Amino acid sequence: MRIIAGPPVSGADFKFRSTEIALATQSLTDGTSLLVKGWRRIGKSSLLVETARVLAETPATTPIYLDVQDMKSLSEFFSGFLRALPADRVQWLRKQWDAARLIPGRIADAVQRRVRKVSAGGGGIEGGLELDASVREYWEPLKESVERLAREQLAQGNRIILLIDELPFFLENMHRQNKNVDDIRIVLATLRAWRNAGLTMAIAGSVSIQLFLEDLEIEGLVINDLQHVNLQPLAQLEAEALVVQLAGIAKLTGWTPASTAALLAELPDHFPFFIQTAMNQLRASGSSTPEQIADVAENSLQQQLFATFYQQFDERLARRFEPGIRGAAEAVLNAMAKDVHGKISNAAIDALCEPLGQDSLAVKRRLELAEFVRGDPRTGGYRLVQNLLKTWRAARGGI
Ligand SMILES: Nc1ncnc2c1ncn2[C@@H]1O[C@H](COP(=O)(O)OP(=O)(O)OP(=O)(O)O)[C@@H](O)[C@H]1O
Ligand SMILES: [Mg+2]
Repeated sequence: MRIIAGPPVSGADFKFRSTEIALATQSLTDGTSLLVKGWRRIGKSSLLVETARVLAETPATTPIYLDVQDMKSLSEFFSGFLRALPADRVQWLRKQWDAARLIPGRIADAVQRRVRKVSAGGGGIEGGLELDASVREYWEPLKESVERLAREQLAQGNRIILLIDELPFFLENMHRQNKNVDDIRIVLATLRAWRNAGLTMAIAGSVSIQLFLEDLEIEGLVINDLQHVNLQPLAQLEAEALVVQLAGIAKLTGWTPASTAALLAELPDHFPFFIQTAMNQLRASGSSTPEQIADVAENSLQQQLFATFYQQFDERLARRFEPGIRGAAEAVLNAMAKDVHGKISNAAIDALCEPLGQDSLAVKRRLELAEFVRGDPRTGGYRLVQNLLKTWRAARGGI
């Protein structure tokens, strides 16, 4: 294992999450598709990459990891998919297109050339807008050829499994370009059709796809067949074990149980990313006593971790809440931040929303979809999803 604070981790660098990995690998090979949820930096991409790695060692499965964060069009998405597909499967598709005269040869050539060019490291996008238009025009047969491929593979005892990272970013990129939601609908309907054909998938994203679809008034129907996997911070014992292991890797002499306790006390939540970032800084400065740890936390760690998260929270509040509902949402968040456990009752939410003239049901729904709070179906109350939200409200003068 190494200390890695930033990019997705897998293999020996990937720790814990054994339940999630088991759920993902078993569900996906049996035919159930997943939506991986959780705050930024909780480890969603790592879960996808590690799942792909495990599946690659599983007979009769072809896992494909596809990061769509920077894609902006249907044709980029389709060529990205082809690029990740094993070459023999791409050839099978090409034969389909040609034999049934589904796709004009010049378009198939252009798509394939783009696949080759990018995978050769060229990075150039050939055809540009023209190819985009052609791919959209022939989208239906292209989409259906992949359905046939998935069925054909299943019939031969092999399942293609797609791990799509940052789908909401891709959808937002498309929306920003042409301001219509047609292409978003096309992508979502395509993925749904592929799933129905037996191509299972896990979809992840660092913004809530449900919130995004609701904003665009696209009904959740297109993703309601996905089983949700909610990634949580590490448990106390896991966090302690990770700290101790990384302290060993960092060769921090004089590391004691008191050091572990001191470090964890500085971190608002047990995100593996927080622990990795902290250990990376402690290693650089050779800090291992509780005093040294407190020093590093105060002088660099808190700033680095808190600032980026606060900015995300601010953005989500500003972009995903209309001004009216935002005031009520902030009032609820402030009240929760004041509670030691970050909790609030249903009645208390009602009492806050009423004088502001806001529908408390709508406020609760938005807060939950934005992943600020989580509902407790038993008590009907709510709790903050992470402790960092408390200090954020305090920093913003809310409490
Ligand atoms: N299972 C894990 N074991 C060890 N470290 C992990 C694990 N998962 C995540 N991390 C740490 O968190 C960092 C971020 O992980 P990852 O990129 O998977 O998060 P993410 O949820 O996809 O983030 P983003 O929302 O920004 O896309 C990694 O670089 C690593 O430091
Ligand atoms: Mg990610």
